Amino acid sequence: MISVFFKTYGCQANVADSAGIASFLEGLGCVQVETEAAADLIIINTCAIREKAEQKLYSYLGELVDFKEALPYLKIGIIGCVASYRKQEMLKRFSYVSFVSGARDERTSFLTYLSDVIVQLQTEKQFFEKTLTLPAVSVDLPVLNRDVKAAMKARDLVVPAARIKESTQAALGGSLAPVGEVRRAFINITTGCNNYCTYCIVPATRGRETSYSLEEIVMRVTHEVAQGAKEITLIGQNVNSYTCPETGQRFAALLEAVALIPGDFWVRYISPHPKDMTRDVLETMAKYADKLCSWCHFPLQAGSTRVLELMNRTYTKEEYLAQVELIRQIIPGVTLSTDIIVGFPGETHEEYLETLEVVDAVGFDMAYSFVYSRRKYTKAYNMGDTCPAEEKSARLTELQQKQRAIELVRNQQHVGKNMRVLVEKRSTNGKLLARSAGNSRVVFDGDDGLIGTFVEINVLEAGQAELRGVLRVDTSSDTKIKNVVA
Ligand code: 5AD
Ligand code: SF4
Repeated sequence: MISVFFKTYGCQANVADSAGIASFLEGLGCVQVETEAAADLIIINTCAIREKAEQKLYSYLGELVDFKEALPYLKIGIIGCVASYRKQEMLKRFSYVSFVSGARDERTSFLTYLSDVIVQLQTEKQFFEKTLTLPAVSVDLPVLNRDVKAAMKARDLVVPAARIKESTQAALGGSLAPVGEVRRAFINITTGCNNYCTYCIVPATRGRETSYSLEEIVMRVTHEVAQGAKEITLIGQNVNSYTCPETGQRFAALLEAVALIPGDFWVRYISPHPKDMTRDVLETMAKYADKLCSWCHFPLQAGSTRVLELMNRTYTKEEYLAQVELIRQIIPGVTLSTDIIVGFPGETHEEYLETLEVVDAVGFDMAYSFVYSRRKYTKAYNMGDTCPAEEKSARLTELQQKQRAIELVRNQQHVGKNMRVLVEKRSTNGKLLARSAGNSRVVFDGDDGLIGTFVEINVLEAGQAELRGVLRVDTSSDTKIKNVVA
């Protein structure tokens, strides 16, 4: 049996990709393991969004040398966004890497290639266990070339229909179910992006946007729910532009179709684009609020209309604020989170202050904020990077301080209230860790048996990062525990 370890960097699209590949490999009889030391195959899914993410990858690759020396038949493969544009460089630089396949490479071919890798690995592992050496000459195995694309070309690939079906389902993603944690599924509904925000490398690494079939997505979600997934996250770089290639159905129709799948589970999605969010999507969320979480991740990026224009975000500050108002009007009590970049080329101090103003005006429940990172293959690369590093990090620190204060006030509004939460796992401090539909973190005392169930919590206390609560009553329809706390 072949053991596979996944190291996944970056966004949830990468998480979905890794989970899909993992489920494909499980179908071939492989098992997922939790450490590099236990693995016969290590797959690294890479992120290129900021320079820091790429640097982390290189230091991780450095750490893997020891594992390769300890286990000569170990195979290490690199996939994802960095693999898209540094393929040849990585093959040259890291001789112990067995294969590199970019996020834009055709998925069916890659999975077929991966099946060949597993066959070769099985042979080499058996041979090694018997002789403690590797086969001197390559046994008669399918063509293996470290550049997956070239290998598939050389093989003149004809993929059987069953494999295409399997690989489409794998491309959609799958579940993460680390031991002792709730099962959560990450499902790609689109891949790639057509927006070309000027700072963003994603269109270069993942290519043009394509949507998966609504029927395939519903099949995948139904399968994940049947496997016990309690939370489904639908993922696209711009979910609002989802268009079923077969029927032309749009995102609201997809949300409705997923909400109508029977079972006790929650659905989230990331990310909408403020320019494209429509009333029908919000009304569908309100209509199926039992399944569709009242949470919206709504990336602002910057508060100044001029900077937004330089970023090619195609909305103004005022249009963004009007969209927020619409969301709150149709889904009262919705929680909002966002992404913000500070120090975009040419952003003046006054323009940065406009970002703070919007942050104040909206009152986000959570924000991910970043210092602008200059990326090759983006339009902003040639705009220069004029803001000094100290200025950028001072802006980030101030923004994060402000946001933390807002979060504390918003969290305090939950105190004394009851909320339905999904119990995720036992946290390191011994408490159970759960999350509400609005994505608030809640910790409380309880038994392991509650992990993976929906329970009701009374909120006792609020900090900036999490709420502390007490268990009231288990509201899950699929468990018999009815735990009442006085
Ligand atoms: N520099 C900093 N942040 C970036 N993001 C995307 N590209 C860059 C970059 N070059 C941020 C955006 C996006 C999030 C996923 O990452 O805020 O929404
Ligand atoms: Fe990047 Fe903009 Fe596409 Fe998001 S919408 S992936 S930020 S180009």
